[in-house]
Amino acid sequence: MTEHAYIEDIAAHEGKGVTLKGWLYNKTDKGKLQFLLVRDGTGIIQAVVFEDDVSPEGFEAARAVTQESSLIVTGTVRADKRAPGGYELTANAVEIVQLAEDYPITPKEHGVEFLMDRRHLWLRSSRQHAILRVRAEVVRAIRDWLDSHGFINLDTPILTPSSCEDTTTLFETDYFGERAYLAQSGQLYNEAEIMSFGKVYCFGPTFRAEKSKTRRHLLEFWMVEPEMAWADLDECMRVEEELVSYVVQTTLKNRAEELKTLERDTTLLEKVNPPFPRLTYDSAVEILHREGVSIEWGDDLGAPHEVVLAEHFEKPVFVHHYPTQCKAFYMEFDPERPEVCLSVDLLATEGYGEIIGGGQRSASYEYLEQQVEQLGISRQAYEWYLDLRRYGSVPHSGFGLGLERTVAWICGVKHIRETIPFPRLLGRMYP
Ligand code: 4AD
Ligand code: MG
Repeated sequence: MTEHAYIEDIAAHEGKGVTLKGWLYNKTDKGKLQFLLVRDGTGIIQAVVFEDDVSPEGFEAARAVTQESSLIVTGTVRADKRAPGGYELTANAVEIVQLAEDYPITPKEHGVEFLMDRRHLWLRSSRQHAILRVRAEVVRAIRDWLDSHGFINLDTPILTPSSCEDTTTLFETDYFGERAYLAQSGQLYNEAEIMSFGKVYCFGPTFRAEKSKTRRHLLEFWMVEPEMAWADLDECMRVEEELVSYVVQTTLKNRAEELKTLERDTTLLEKVNPPFPRLTYDSAVEILHREGVSIEWGDDLGAPHEVVLAEHFEKPVFVHHYPTQCKAFYMEFDPERPEVCLSVDLLATEGYGEIIGGGQRSASYEYLEQQVEQLGISRQAYEWYLDLRRYGSVPHSGFGLGLERTVAWICGVKHIRETIPFPRLLGRMYP
């Protein structure tokens, strides 16, 4: 028996015999020679099956094997400059584990709905594989950076009695007769945890019943949310730019192969290093007016505004001091100008828009009590949150980075639906 090897480690086996276990990606039939493109999740390699090198059953298997059949191929690893990845396998045995018939996704073009209905199979294609490997790398880089900068990972509940963001996007569910909402954000709980741990983060799925179909909204998405006691707005931006730069540079380094598969032009990503430009909301509105984009002071920035603003910069740009009226209830207002708040959004380059929302939280019991009254959710559900301002309230800040939007930006994919294994979209919960 030869050793089971993974394709990504194939270089270490040059000249030796290995067994590969995987699926048939593609095949070229040249009579006595069968060229099998085999993938195993870690890579793709061509196995060359010559009739004289294998048993008659083995050769028949190589001839009969179809796209996405599972198979086991044994052979000798040979370096070959022309081969993608630099290696080939000269096969001496081929065994079909399960013969796949009429695999529906073929190399020809398919419509998006067709592919979305078959998302469970679509994941096997090289482009989806590359995007999701990048996603895993981004997750790892985020955790690496936070874990090595004093942040404690404490995850927050998904079933909650209260709302953190826009109350119109709540998913409601029954909690044995009580009303519960799926978490829109872990922030409020993070704010409790920092009073015990100083710096924390949660990283998990969050839910928004977004009623619009756009290329940057999911109903279920993943968000990493760092929160820091004693940090002001400025410190918040400093942490954001450090984290985002680390994530981008690490991904460029460790997932270069995948970004090449995606044909991502990485010129601008290579420039993602601190400091990022900072823009007040007021100057953002000025720029937009100069560009002839309509917006009234007080309106939140939407995707079209963000695209125009980002075009002015080669790096992600911070927009801070938004009007208090267009941000969430917990934002600290500017004591000198209460009509604006200490909030900050980070806009990615190349039209990918807002990837982070955050800022400094109000430390005042009286102000938050008033704000909670206006939410339309029972004050009782926020009693614990108000306690945090009763017992040792401190200035503090934090933010939420949307994982899928960040992955879409790094990969250069237009629609966020490809950046999560099984997207939840308006009108789609299958598969
Ligand atoms: O700006 P948002 O709503 O901020 C919060 O939820 C804060 N409580 C976070 C915090 O300060 N701890 O969302 C943060 C980020 C956005 O910038 C965006 O990247 C992403 O989450 N996001 C979405 N991603 C995909 N689909 C959606 N429907 C999203 N809504 C927000
Ligand atoms: Mg936001």
